[in-house]
Amino acid sequence: MSKESLFQYTCAAVFAAGVIFGLYRVDVLASGEPGLSALSVATASGTLFLLGFVLLMGPLCRMFAIFDRVLKFRKELGIMTFVTSLTHVYLVMFPLARSGPWGLFRSRPFSAYPGLEALIVLFVLLIFSWNWSMKLLGTKLWWELQYWGARLAFVLIGVHMVVLKYKTIVSWAMPGNLPEAGSHIPPLIVWEAQFLLLVLVIRLSELFGVKIARIITQVSTALVLVVLLWTTFAG
Ligand code: HEM
Repeated sequence: MSKESLFQYTCAAVFAAGVIFGLYRVDVLASGEPGLSALSVATASGTLFLLGFVLLMGPLCRMFAIFDRVLKFRKELGIMTFVTSLTHVYLVMFPLARSGPWGLFRSRPFSAYPGLEALIVLFVLLIFSWNWSMKLLGTKLWWELQYWGARLAFVLIGVHMVVLKYKTIVSWAMPGNLPEAGSHIPPLIVWEAQFLLLVLVIRLSELFGVKIARIITQVSTALVLVVLLWTTFAG
């Protein structure tokens, strides 16, 4: 492994660890319960945020020159999402499983199977992330595999979390539904649902050309931040 490659992996690993640590702290503040369950939520939502960021890197670079510098970390960050998702799946299927490893597959199949499929897609992308695979497939096919694979994994994760947690998301979207006493920090799922929408809006905004996409991206990002601050500090 070259020095440059080692540097990129180290930066991606440190960044991913920082994201997971931050999300863990937020989840503990919101739920008041530190431990493996909070770690599972932090690694789950960390995967969503990291993969979403990987998917946004292309559009963000085309819109804002400042993001050019982070583009070279895209592959390494993508690989980190396999590590974080595997941690989440291990925690929910073993230490945290109340009805055995396959309990959720029986009780919530429409959520559990898309989750497992997302993990399999991320694993395939990991296997095909090394240089030998680019030589084997050719550059064009390799890029298409990575391009569509990352999108497919993101959609499957979205289905998994929305099917599992739509009640919490809907109850937060209803006016007048304030958080439980003592906690005004929205649960991470509310942040995740808004991030999912944001990724969709930013990707679709490119259909209108760079200038309009830039405005849509700035306005929608500001809107999400305002909503989060509002739900955190109102009440
Ligand atoms: C790539 C694989 C996966 C990813 C990225 C992923 C992601 C997520 C996300 C974003 C959430 C919502 C977290 C929150 O409450 O804020 C979640 C929750 C959950 N997932 Fe997954 N998931 C994956 C696979 C799986 C699999 C295979 C299972 C097991 C059958 C599973 C079981 C659960 C459970 C039980 C929860 C609820 C956790 C809780 O509320 O404490 N996940 N997952």
